[in-house]
Amino acid sequence: MRILAFYSFKGGVGKTGAAVNVAAEAAADGLPTLLWDMDPQAASSWILGHDGGLEAGARKLFTGRTPIGREIMRTPWESLDLLPAARGYRHLDALLAEQTEKPEKVLGDLLRPLSERYALVIIDCPPSYSRLAEALFRVTDLFAVPLVPSPLSARVWHELQEHFRKKELPRKRLLPFLSLVDRRRRMHRDLLASKPPAFQRQLDAWIPSASVAERMAETRAPVRAYAPRSPVAGAYKRLWRELEQRLTEVSQRNRLS
Ligand SMILES: Nc1ncnc2c1ncn2[C@@H]1O[C@H](COP(=O)(O)OP(=O)(O)OP(=O)(O)O)[C@@H](O)[C@H]1O
Ligand SMILES: [Mg+2]
Repeated sequence: MRILAFYSFKGGVGKTGAAVNVAAEAAADGLPTLLWDMDPQAASSWILGHDGGLEAGARKLFTGRTPIGREIMRTPWESLDLLPAARGYRHLDALLAEQTEKPEKVLGDLLRPLSERYALVIIDCPPSYSRLAEALFRVTDLFAVPLVPSPLSARVWHELQEHFRKKELPRKRLLPFLSLVDRRRRMHRDLLASKPPAFQRQLDAWIPSASVAERMAETRAPVRAYAPRSPVAGAYKRLWRELEQRLTEVSQRNRLS
């Protein structure tokens, strides 16, 4: 089982859009896939059809009183399951701090039984630096980081790299990709064309800003379900293909080491 997180401490950069659509692409390939929505805003839970609260879910789940399998629901899409966010996820940091075990051990223990059912777990992260993010940095195979073309995104990327360096985390797990790209804007076109060296390991795939993608929250479906031939559906597919390749490389490296 591989674990892929969509992460940035910056909000509104396309993490949820990419997480939902990449998960749908992986599932469409027949890969048993679980999307774990860790953001209490619950946007990906909503898109994939979850309506309700799960108020008590977080504490019981993170203290091991509810088996993780009980919180998982099926989605209308074959091979794609959802572990919806609970409102209690707002307090995950406090919950993790209360445990005697290290946060990464708590998360690792939670994730382990999922390998019996899933080949891929995709995590939609909340936009923050937190104890949760810190633990995720240690248990996740790859971090896909959406960067919206702007002078700020170079800073976001630099800060993330610095954070990984200081904490001695493997920086090669961070993979940036351009997100919400608007080709009518000069800076966006320039960044697409130049692949600045500052964004090491930038993926070739990039996600255009497209109104058809904004309809996800209304239609409550990944783009491939309602606009399969749209350019943005193609972009998410290319993103999945590239991430799949990188995940395979991680598996090969792990086998050799
Ligand atoms: N490819 C896209 N084209 C146009 N709009 C998009 C696209 N992807 C997402 N959006 C819209 O942009 C907004 C932010 O996207 P999204 O929710 O995916 O970002 P996020 O990084 O997960 O945000 P948050 O940090 O709040 O969780 C949403 O309103 C969403 O509908
Ligand atoms: Mg989000």
